Amino acid sequence: MSNAVLTAVAWPYANGPRHIGHVSGFGVPSDVFARFRRMSGDRVLMVSGTDEHGTPIQVQADAEGLTPRQLADKYNDVIVDDLQGLGLSYDLFTRTTTTNHYDVVQQMFTSLYKNGYVVPKVQLGAISPSTGRTLPDRYIEGTCPICGYDGARGDQCDNCGNQLDPADLKNPVSRINGETPKFVETEHFFLDLPAFSEALGSWLSTRTDWRPNVLKFSANLVENLKPRAITRDLEWGVPVPLDSWSANPLKKIYVWFDAVIGYLSASVEWARRGPDPDAWKQWWTDPSAQAYYFMGKDNITFHSVMWPAILLGQNGQGDRGGEPGPYGLLDLPSEVVSSEYLKMSGSKFSSSRGNVIYVGDFLREFGADALRYHVAVAGPENTDVDFTWDEFTRRVNFELANEWGNLVNRSISMAHKNVGAIPTPSAPVQADHDLLAYSKAGFDTVGELLGRNRIKQAATEAMRVVTAANRYLSDQEPWKRKDDPERRDTILHTALQVVQDANTLLTPFLPHSAQKVHEALGGTGVWAAQPERKEVADLGDGPAYPVLTGDYDAEQAHWGSTPIEVGRPLAKPSPIFSKLPPELAETGPEWAPVQS
Ligand code: MF3
Ligand code: ZN
Repeated sequence: MSNAVLTAVAWPYANGPRHIGHVSGFGVPSDVFARFRRMSGDRVLMVSGTDEHGTPIQVQADAEGLTPRQLADKYNDVIVDDLQGLGLSYDLFTRTTTTNHYDVVQQMFTSLYKNGYVVPKVQLGAISPSTGRTLPDRYIEGTCPICGYDGARGDQCDNCGNQLDPADLKNPVSRINGETPKFVETEHFFLDLPAFSEALGSWLSTRTDWRPNVLKFSANLVENLKPRAITRDLEWGVPVPLDSWSANPLKKIYVWFDAVIGYLSASVEWARRGPDPDAWKQWWTDPSAQAYYFMGKDNITFHSVMWPAILLGQNGQGDRGGEPGPYGLLDLPSEVVSSEYLKMSGSKFSSSRGNVIYVGDFLREFGADALRYHVAVAGPENTDVDFTWDEFTRRVNFELANEWGNLVNRSISMAHKNVGAIPTPSAPVQADHDLLAYSKAGFDTVGELLGRNRIKQAATEAMRVVTAANRYLSDQEPWKRKDDPERRDTILHTALQVVQDANTLLTPFLPHSAQKVHEALGGTGVWAAQPERKEVADLGDGPAYPVLTGDYDAEQAHWGSTPIEVGRPLAKPSPIFSKLPPELAETGPEWAPVQS
């Protein structure tokens, strides 16, 4: 049975190039999952884009002397290239500054407003006494009123994960210049989160299979709901679609309210660009559709509280009831898949604190699959982990090059040299049966783990098949069978079949090298499809922009064992993975040297 599977990937801010910590949270895990589900025959829709509103953009634009729009254009371009380079197989990677996105956000706002879940209220807003300008929430720091953490920001506490308002902070100070902000009255719209308390609680109680840390964290958040401001005193953003407000140049919709709606707007945009503008509904209004959301842990609250509340409000399913909006009854997330942090030498990767390894630099020097592999086997799936060049070098050299690369290389080389083609097997012995059975069983074991986003374990299990095949070759010694070519060919055939199986098992993790292995085995055409960058016209009257999209239906990779074709010619293979110089482990690359 083919399922509709929405793969919703967190939207990176277009305020700088992304570092490897970012893509280890949202990028690699979502792509491994999407590729696996496509290979399993499911109908995947994978969407995201750059997040281009709010103070993160405004503040960086000021710093670079650009308008917010210029800044967003600049980094959208870089991020699109990086994500394409990583091979993230988006059906649509778009942006939040499109006409379509503005329309969908305003529709959602209006539906929530009509159903009574969005209400105006006067609150206290922070002003900088020295400049007289509004101080962005995340540039105010203080003590969290809920958990007492000292470094809480005006928008949220990274320690307990709760969303905050700057006026809640104890001892607030401006991060820009250390002054104490002045609070003045200002009118804003609030999302009535307490009205969703029950609906959110019962939805969460059905979500038993999430990663335990994410579930526990989310359940905790739902117990502490307060109305949440969803407009800001800011010039840059989506206008509030109400007569008295839309003309006000100083008030805009809060960036997080607009960004999470991006999942829906990007799905709508994708459909509007295809043959059936209603096609997005398969992933959104069919209760049997599944929706997986991928992100780093600082995004959990927005996906397990705010986004479901927006959906429930649009549906008319909170305490105040109401009518579904123009999108019909929208599905809530099946799972919020969150990663912890990738750190370097104990400090969280953060562009503002140095110690940054940018995706672009990394890809240029080491290629996508090395990074993808490292994140999959050694990434921050359940706990924060330290990225070290030592571990990276070791895993590339010993696991990718020595284990996997070598298995591919020696099996194909021997078959090429002795037969020139995939050899014909004859009377198999127990060891042959055992190995083939082991690699076939891998599709169940690894598939079950990938279906539950246990990516680390899944990658480890897939590599066990590689290890078993290497052991088999050492035991069977086909190179010593000159006087028994039939036995030699049977061994080589078995080994090549397991190379084919292992390559399939590794395709979600290593799609670029999987394509090369496919070709080394004599295959032609697209094994694992890659995203393409295209320039498209805005669907309204906005400027053209780049998107990532792809023709993933055309790929040959399917989850299961495909018998290799006897007699298919084999050329002399070239190495799939090159080894890294061992000193990289101690020094790091020039552009990110190890600091002692
Ligand atoms: N831009 C946010 C960040 O980088 C993530 C937004 S995810 C979205 O943390 F879904 F809300 F778009
Ligand atoms: Zn806190």
